[in-house]
Amino acid sequence: MRILFIGDIFGRPGRTIVRDKLKNLVREHGIDLVLANGENAAAGFGITPALAEDLFDLGIDVLTTGNHVWDKREIIDFFASADGNAHSPARRVLRPANYAKDLPGTGVYQGRKNDVPYAVLNLQGRVFMASNDDPFRTADELLGKITEKIIFVDLHAEATSEKVAMGWYLDGRVTALIGTHTHVPTADERVLPGGTAYITDVGMTGPYEGVIGVKKELIIGRFLNNMPVRFEPATGDARLCAVVVDADESTGKARSIERVMLT
Ligand SMILES: [Fe+2]
Ligand SMILES: [Fe+2]
Repeated sequence: MRILFIGDIFGRPGRTIVRDKLKNLVREHGIDLVLANGENAAAGFGITPALAEDLFDLGIDVLTTGNHVWDKREIIDFFASADGNAHSPARRVLRPANYAKDLPGTGVYQGRKNDVPYAVLNLQGRVFMASNDDPFRTADELLGKITEKIIFVDLHAEATSEKVAMGWYLDGRVTALIGTHTHVPTADERVLPGGTAYITDVGMTGPYEGVIGVKKELIIGRFLNNMPVRFEPATGDARLCAVVVDADESTGKARSIERVMLT
């Protein structure tokens, strides 16, 4: 099974480059399953049900999120609208699994694509981020219940050390452990000895002529003055950042991971 994972889709520039490039990317790389982090799809802050549906229509199978998941309040009713349907669009948008258990939504999706069963797991780090339940022990607990061989994990986290540690912790137990959130791609993709594909951060899919997606003048001003400003998405230099993971569906082990950056 060949899996494409697209890093944080940021605002209209991110959505547009996905619309323009995804079909070809899927064809060229023989992709079976398309996953993406959509936490910044709505002008950089959160995701609306309509935008989630648009991204599904473009060919994305499952969307993960992170700390921006609640920015658009409509997502709460959207999560509730799944209403027990395990494959509804609302169930195919995840929020980190290690948030408080009684919050709306869920952090795991189990499905099938081209006859291959797979699971997607969304976790969030705790270093330099809001406090959540322990992502390591949450992963243990969830992996104890997941029967699919292909298991793809998005760890949405700030600290490189936390992501590297999770990579080693889950090595051999999941197909891929992929980092998101910093919006800056790292060059450390590799398959760990136990067969887990790893990268510290996939990078943002959005406007790189800015500061992690936001207009650069606003962020520079913020650093100079410490005055609160309303963040607006940047527009120039849109790039699509992703990884392609090739996995053996009978064992769930990754064979390779390849970084992709399209302009
Ligand atoms: Fe993000
Ligand atoms: Fe984030």
